[in-house]
Amino acid sequence: MANQHYLICICFVLAFSYASCVQTVNGRIKITVGTTSACFDTINFFRDQLVPTYNLYGDFLDLEIVPWGRTVRHDNGTLTCQFGENDCWANRLHRCALNFLRGNQKAQLDYMACELAPPYPAYRHASFACVQAAGISIIQADFCVNNPGSDTLDEDARNASIEPMAVINFVPSIVFNDNPEWNIHLQAFRRLSSVVCFALADDPTTGVTGCQI
Ligand SMILES: *[C@@H]1O[C@H](CO)[C@@H](O)[C@H](O)[C@H]1NC(C)=O
Ligand SMILES: *[C@@H]1O[C@H](CO)[C@@H](O)[C@H](O)[C@H]1NC(C)=O
Repeated sequence: MANQHYLICICFVLAFSYASCVQTVNGRIKITVGTTSACFDTINFFRDQLVPTYNLYGDFLDLEIVPWGRTVRHDNGTLTCQFGENDCWANRLHRCALNFLRGNQKAQLDYMACELAPPYPAYRHASFACVQAAGISIIQADFCVNNPGSDTLDEDARNASIEPMAVINFVPSIVFNDNPEWNIHLQAFRRLSSVVCFALADDPTTGVTGCQI
């Protein structure tokens, strides 16, 4: 089964034809997006792909956002982020805020869309504006961002990003149903709503039809 599935993917890629190898699991699709705060590919992906797709198909999606990017953790515990210290700080704030908003993925997406749009409050201004807009206590967020040792958010994000970064090596990394595949990531990066729509349409229980490439 797995081999056959793999071959089908390869065939479609070779034919430059469109097909989604993403499938629903119990009528749903899990999407895990690895982000970093200052990355324009991440910013554009959220604005042009993820938010519109969520607006269309959010009822069928389980969204997980992992603000870690290409962060390296040194033996002494310090972090080095792709776009420097501000990137690290903003990513840490994102992890804190997403944790406060866990269980409410629409609120999580809205929060990240706020951070990844001008004026890029956390990254550019070390501002809690999006945190406040999300209804999170600034006191709690401030404690969280300044006390990384008090929780496992960094460790969890680091762990969650190891495999996607090894396979996809791109930020944002886009993974469906915990199964990182570079070709599917690339399709999703270019046209997420098509990938999601075709996967949903392939499952009659969703009632989704009329997908466009
Ligand atoms: C931690 O290790 C990194 C890499 O070796 C180094 O650049 C950094 O200065 C160290 N930081 C501290 C606080 O020791
Ligand atoms: C991260 O992964 C390592 C190695 O698999 C594991 O030992 C550790 O418990 C994980 N940490 C968390 C917070 O899940």
